[in-house]
Amino acid sequence: MSKDMSYESVMSRKNQIMKDAVRIDYSSFEGKGIAFDYEKMMKEAGYSLEQMIEIQKETGIGNTPLLELKNITKLARKYAPKGKGARIFIKDEASNPSGSFKARRAAISVYHAKKYGYKGVIAATSGNYGAAVASQACMRGLNCIIVQECYDSKGKGQPEIIEKARKCEAYGAEVVQLTVGPELFYTFLKLLEKTGYFNASLYTPFGIAGVETLGYEIAQQMRQKEGRDPDVVVATNAGGGNLTGTARGLIKASASDVQVVGASVNLKGLHMASDEQFNKKSFTTGHTGFGIPFATWPDRSDVPRSAGRPLRYMDRYVTVNQGEVFYMTEALAQIEGLERGPAGNTSLTAAFSLAQELDQDKIIVVQETEYTGAGKHIQPQLTFAKENGVEIKVGNPEEEIVGKNIILPKTPDLIKARELDLIKLKKSYIKNCIKNTEVETISKEDLEFLIEDTNTTEDFVKNVINEIDNNLLS
Ligand SMILES: Cc1ncc(COP(=O)(O)O)c(C=O)c1O
Repeated sequence: MSKDMSYESVMSRKNQIMKDAVRIDYSSFEGKGIAFDYEKMMKEAGYSLEQMIEIQKETGIGNTPLLELKNITKLARKYAPKGKGARIFIKDEASNPSGSFKARRAAISVYHAKKYGYKGVIAATSGNYGAAVASQACMRGLNCIIVQECYDSKGKGQPEIIEKARKCEAYGAEVVQLTVGPELFYTFLKLLEKTGYFNASLYTPFGIAGVETLGYEIAQQMRQKEGRDPDVVVATNAGGGNLTGTARGLIKASASDVQVVGASVNLKGLHMASDEQFNKKSFTTGHTGFGIPFATWPDRSDVPRSAGRPLRYMDRYVTVNQGEVFYMTEALAQIEGLERGPAGNTSLTAAFSLAQELDQDKIIVVQETEYTGAGKHIQPQLTFAKENGVEIKVGNPEEEIVGKNIILPKTPDLIKARELDLIKLKKSYIKNCIKNTEVETISKEDLEFLIEDTNTTEDFVKNVINEIDNNLLS
């Protein structure tokens, strides 16, 4: 008898479909309430750092150049207070096979899929990860399907997402393009069940651990170049895997004192699932529309427990505006000779501002670049924004209103990294844990987990819990 493929029925089979498609028994890491054993999950399901370096080397990933941006540093110093203006370096991840750090993530998943005899891999992503999975699958001789949410209900697609579809197809993947809405996950599940392919999710331990090599390389290369660790590493943050993996890699290289800063484009007020607002944004990743919901509830991802847990590792979280990132994209091309894509340039924009807070002998590393292409360029993005009723102006980016205008800074001193309140995000995460698991009491195990997952103290977590309900800790 054929299976019931209705939405309700497919959703009710979700857990089994997922289990068959990632071969991780997430229940073996679960505690009774809120807690789960994160490090056990990373250890048992993942690979060692040495193994991952080897796996990535096989397909030409990693060992990307670490470049000093001398001209951008000079520009930052022009506007910084006397004696300030840290040196800015950038890790040129665009030189990975598919043009971004996502190749590191895909490499481990695809290797794992091949090892376990899967014939193909599937990923649900509208981002660079699709191209990364497609490229790795191609190199290892597996089939590949990428499921993308790329159109609004009028069939209009963001140029950057269309660009990414093109790239996946160029690597021979089949791309399933959908409109905004809940059918993404449903389609994804149906395809996993029908094909029996591996779920190359962005959020499994394989994927996140794959990024550890990036943090590790930053520490190694900086020690070789400058004889020391960087002071600050800035990572563009969306689903949290980039920052988590990089920070874990730094720790594995014993570079534990490096300050890890997350950076996202400010898209406050735009609803990611809204058909009408879907095309009002000029950035399709590395923005707060993903960054904040995923930081405050990482387990919203397509696996039961996300391996990307940015609140564990983030020392600061800042935002920059769309117009500022366009400006720095142009600056990187015109004064450093590096034409690169928007996601990496988000952390570059933050670094340009943060460098002005630090002494000149300090070192900031922007931990990635990404490739650029016909859909990612400033011109198609600004044209698309105009077509969608967004006004483009030159002026003070402070006045940018997301979805209404984009303000290209009149002068570079107007570029500012704006602080997000990490304490508030951590509180919100704890609240979500309690709400989503519906626990009635918080055990010692839960308490310890929450302290680790928010990188805070017992007093902090207890205070937040008591603010919600002072019977929970009894
Ligand atoms: C090039 C690039 N940088 C950064 C990010 C953010 O990574 P994460 O979602 O793991 O936070 C993405 C994700 O889409 C990306 O493609």
